[in-house]
Amino acid sequence: MKVLTAAFAAASILFVGPAIADEALAKKNMCTTCHAVDKKLMGPSFKEIAAKHKGAKDAEAILINATVKGSKGVYGKIPMPPQPKAEADAPALAKWIMSL
Ligand code: HEC
Repeated sequence: MKVLTAAFAAASILFVGPAIADEALAKKNMCTTCHAVDKKLMGPSFKEIAAKHKGAKDAEAILINATVKGSKGVYGKIPMPPQPKAEADAPALAKWIMSL
């Protein structure tokens, strides 16, 4: 019975795994070369991005779009180059950023 419970727990962790993003996913996608959670690097901090879009119904869609297609002129003069390789992880990253 214990073994079965453990197997179930492991299976459910695997199942929800891809939906849970964290800093490791941002690192994997090289976002952290320009972004940190709570301080400005070349790009705005993820907390600043979350604060800017809090309350917007389509916040996650805006973030996904900016991640894949790039962003220019929202926070300053430095543009963000498009990150097409992060497309698969972009929804999870957007969700994580908005949770900060
Ligand atoms: C080469 C540096 C660089 C990399 C790499 C980078 N960013 Fe950015 N990012 C920026 C800059 C600079 C801005 C501000 C652009 C602006 O003012 O519009 C920005 C802005 C953003 C925004 C805000 C868009 C908005 O409309 O509010 C999001 C979301 C974002 N980045 C997510 C990511 C994610 C996720 C990754 C990794 C897949 C990533 N960035 C990788 C430099 C970078």
